[in-house]
Amino acid sequence: MSNSPIRHFLDLTTPGVPAIKAMLAEARRRKDARKGQPKGRVDPDRPLDGHVLASIFEKPSTRTRVSFDMAMRQLGGSTLTLSSSELQLGRGETIADTAQVLSRMVDAIMIRTSAHAKIEELAAYASVPVVNGLTDFNHPCQVMADLLTVEEKLGGVEGTTWAWLGDGNNMTHSIIEAGSLLGFTVRVAVPEGYDPEPAVIEAARKAGGKVELLRDPRAAVEGADVVVTDTWVSMGQADSEAKMAAMMPYQVTAELMALARKEAIFLHCLPAHRDEEATSEVIDGPQSVVFDEAENRLHAQKAVLLWCLGRLNP
Ligand code: CP
Ligand code: NVA
Repeated sequence: MSNSPIRHFLDLTTPGVPAIKAMLAEARRRKDARKGQPKGRVDPDRPLDGHVLASIFEKPSTRTRVSFDMAMRQLGGSTLTLSSSELQLGRGETIADTAQVLSRMVDAIMIRTSAHAKIEELAAYASVPVVNGLTDFNHPCQVMADLLTVEEKLGGVEGTTWAWLGDGNNMTHSIIEAGSLLGFTVRVAVPEGYDPEPAVIEAARKAGGKVELLRDPRAAVEGADVVVTDTWVSMGQADSEAKMAAMMPYQVTAELMALARKEAIFLHCLPAHRDEEATSEVIDGPQSVVFDEAENRLHAQKAVLLWCLGRLNP
């Protein structure tokens, strides 16, 4: 076995800026190269020929599930999609044992789980790369797709201003992290009591990131290049009338979008709760790129897998 460290993809900071840039460039290149082709056709170089990814889901998923499955097919590999309730993991087998067993049979593991500590433990015991398909703490694979989308639509991310509205959640954390790494400003406008974790903001600022924490959604959106939101109630979170009421002023409406730059785009990782965090008018409107963003999950995930499996450097 090689002595080089295993390339886990649990957040954006660990791979680092050169690797993220290489992944984004690779995603673009492969996306362009297969335009108009059937979606199940394998990329001619078959870079992951013979490789198998095990995808474990402890929460529901449409985009993450399908994008990783199709990513492996297009790269010449294959997948096993497993729900934790069907695994012994759901009956109490430890994460450490699961990690060691799966590592003997597959080439990489992707997991969507709740506590971030679980994916850290899985990665600590796995001898193959572990990819974060969302935890309660972050969602780095989604933000790779978001970065790809902003690059495509606005020509780059550096120097842009992103306005995050609504709940301070896993998506917020990964966007703040991305902003500090790639040089864009993140204005976070959330109601009191729903701030992102202060440690995430602190770490981003320490790394030179520009993060503003605001209460006024209008001030956040004013002159922004990107307006982004997400569900007000993430998977596993408690729903409450009080939370919904607190979030209402942060709903992305056409009126709010009009405060952003004329060329501004609207992002949402989906699934959307239409007419809650954003109106249907915005989601289906001319500035919305949510379905390009969803498609880019596939292209971004291919690059993440190639990086994890050492087919892409740095
Ligand atoms: N955006 C995203 O991760 O979607 P899924 O929950 O459908 O995977
Ligand atoms: N914040 C959302 C993202 C879903 C893709 C959640 O965790 O449910």
